[in-house]
Amino acid sequence: MTLAPGRPDPPVAPAPTGAWGALLRLARLDQEAVVTAALDELAGDPLVQRYRRLLLDGRSGVVAQLGQSLDGCIATAAGDAVHVTGPQDREHLHRLRALADAVVVGPGTVARDDPRLTVRAVEGPDPVRVVLDPRGTLPARRVLRDPGTLWVTTRPLPSPGAENVVVGAPGGSLPPRAVLDALARRGLTRVLVEGGGVTVSRWVSAGVVDRLFLTIAPVVIGRGGRRGLALPDVEPLSDCRRPPVRHHLLGEDVCCELDLRVGASEAAPHP
Ligand SMILES: NC(=O)c1ccc[n+]([C@@H]2O[C@H](COP(=O)([O-])OP(=O)(O)OC[C@H]3O[C@@H](n4cnc5c(N)ncnc54)[C@H](OP(=O)(O)O)[C@@H]3O)[C@@H](O)[C@H]2O)c1
Repeated sequence: MTLAPGRPDPPVAPAPTGAWGALLRLARLDQEAVVTAALDELAGDPLVQRYRRLLLDGRSGVVAQLGQSLDGCIATAAGDAVHVTGPQDREHLHRLRALADAVVVGPGTVARDDPRLTVRAVEGPDPVRVVLDPRGTLPARRVLRDPGTLWVTTRPLPSPGAENVVVGAPGGSLPPRAVLDALARRGLTRVLVEGGGVTVSRWVSAGVVDRLFLTIAPVVIGRGGRRGLALPDVEPLSDCRRPPVRHHLLGEDVCCELDLRVGASEAAPHP
């Protein structure tokens, strides 16, 4: 189809090929047996090995990610998080985005970074961007001016461009399950929670995160750094959660893929 006489058609990006292209196509399929058989056939590929479990979780699921320092920080005290982890982890993050229907970020991250949340480091579709803003006070950042963004607040608000989605928030904090229900009503069922630390911790505490990719970089940020995962205290050590883990080496960084469905019923509410 030509859009206007005399004007060339816009270039169409070729569909990604190889094992990564297959993973992207399988991520949109809702046929468990077909997905399983295809993944088995591609089992020798390193990317398939890394994302196989995520796809086997099914079309509905919540994945979270954080890139942290040796001392458990996701950003410096001033909020600088640009190079906590290395380029291979950035690529991995973009792959997680491409495999998700929607990517969720907390207000602190949008206020500090105004992230684009698009897929640029690899081929693949951009997820729907979802910004949590329980107070409804975020400034009109770039991501909030985009009509494709969902801006989740606790009361209807005039939007700078994003679609305003209202979710009831008893106690002022947006309940993750209610946010997930609102996304599911839009057909967005595979969700990536990308940060920051407060948001990921709340969603893990609420017991809604199935799989957490926690990448540890060989860097020390210091006492004032922004905390990554911060969950309620548990005593004694033998009662602390120790989820099943797989490790992926990403350059100098080590990514721990944690299956949080095991022992999820013991998750305590966030204080
Ligand atoms: N390394 C990584 O993987 C990674 C990923 C994402 C972000 N980051 C970095 O993490 C930092 C942000 O993480 P975070 O845990 O602090 O925050 P977050 O999880 O993005 O958002 C939660 C925080 O936002 C606050 N907040 C609520 N409304 C706000 C508003 N209108 N303006 C500003 N803040 C508001 C909340 O305060 P209340 O609880 O009081 O409402 C809460 O402390 C940034 O520096 C970002 O660069 C790192």
